[in-house]
Amino acid sequence: MSRTPSAPGAHLASRLGLTERVFAGPASRRLTRTVEEGMARVEAYLAGQLRVADALADATGRYLFEAGGKRVRPMLSLLTAQLGDGATDEVIAGAGALELTHLGSLYHDDVMDGADVRRGVPAAHSVWGNNVAILTGDLLFSRASQIMSSLGEGAMRLQADTFERLVLGQMHETVGPAEGEDRVAFYLQVLADKTGSLIAAAAEAGIIFSNAPVAYREPVLVFGEKAGVAFQLLDDVIDLSADADETGKVPGTDLRAGVPTMPYLLLAEREDATSVDLRARIDDGVARIADGADPALLDGPLAELRTHPSTAQTLELANDWSRQAVDALEPLPRGAVREALTRFAEAVADRSS
Ligand code: IPE
Ligand code: IPE
Ligand code: MG
Ligand code: MG
Repeated sequence: MSRTPSAPGAHLASRLGLTERVFAGPASRRLTRTVEEGMARVEAYLAGQLRVADALADATGRYLFEAGGKRVRPMLSLLTAQLGDGATDEVIAGAGALELTHLGSLYHDDVMDGADVRRGVPAAHSVWGNNVAILTGDLLFSRASQIMSSLGEGAMRLQADTFERLVLGQMHETVGPAEGEDRVAFYLQVLADKTGSLIAAAAEAGIIFSNAPVAYREPVLVFGEKAGVAFQLLDDVIDLSADADETGKVPGTDLRAGVPTMPYLLLAEREDATSVDLRARIDDGVARIADGADPALLDGPLAELRTHPSTAQTLELANDWSRQAVDALEPLPRGAVREALTRFAEAVADRSS
């Protein structure tokens, strides 16, 4: 499977339909240009930060960076920075460090999820093996820490606290809920930790590093976290998408590997015969795949789950989190930035890649 890597700067235009959706109206056109310019600076900054003297580490570290990605997190930092002094060098560096953290987490995530394709190219572990993929992720986390340490103790703290939450989210996803624990509530917390934390930090970084009013920190933090949960709920629906070309991932990767995503969890709560039967077939397929059977045996049940009401319910849930994200923006001044953030939250709950 191949996908042409997106050119730097093409991310805003091509992913999420952001240009049309997030930036609309004359005031927003100016904002679009400003954010696009900032994104180009982040891109150049990242390319520089990914240089490593070791030839193998240099190649593995830039591999997934060059393969594409939406750059959603730095885009959010650049947006919220417009509430302060704009894209200062510190904003570019902080946004870059958080994107590197995201990038590193993808190397690790694909090992953990046994995912073979990322950003339309073979996952790093498929190319270099698990050890090199894990070490590359570690290297990217080191780079992110180096950058944050140059921005001061507060930045270092933001990085460390965010990373800790991300890791704990991944760990809780891995071990699952305790006996008798509410599985949906547990999973929503996993989403907030593994994904919401980093998106929230990106939104907050834009405020901190642009010297915007301190009073905006909490609202954008809550916004980012809730929009992050909506974003990840859509990721679960996208996991069921039939269109690998659009998503750059293999459909059903998570469920085939036995990772219970939200559509599955909501399915499991239903007691009607169709739902019970579908769940039984998915569980049986997951068990057989774990024993070495062909993952394609779940193609049929996954297609059924895609059109099952529990997937529609997941989309409703994403919309709900998106609305909560928008509500959190209330203390921000009305204007192009708040509007763009509102549209961002709406767009992430209604995306296809
Ligand atoms: C993928 O994130 C991992 C999640 C937290 C859902 P993105 O969907 O932002 O991935 P890229 O950066 O665009 O590849
Ligand atoms: C990724 O979550 C979250 C992190 C990397 C922290 P997923 O495993 O659900 O994301 P995709 O679907 O592989 O991008
Ligand atoms: Mg994954
Ligand atoms: Mg995962």
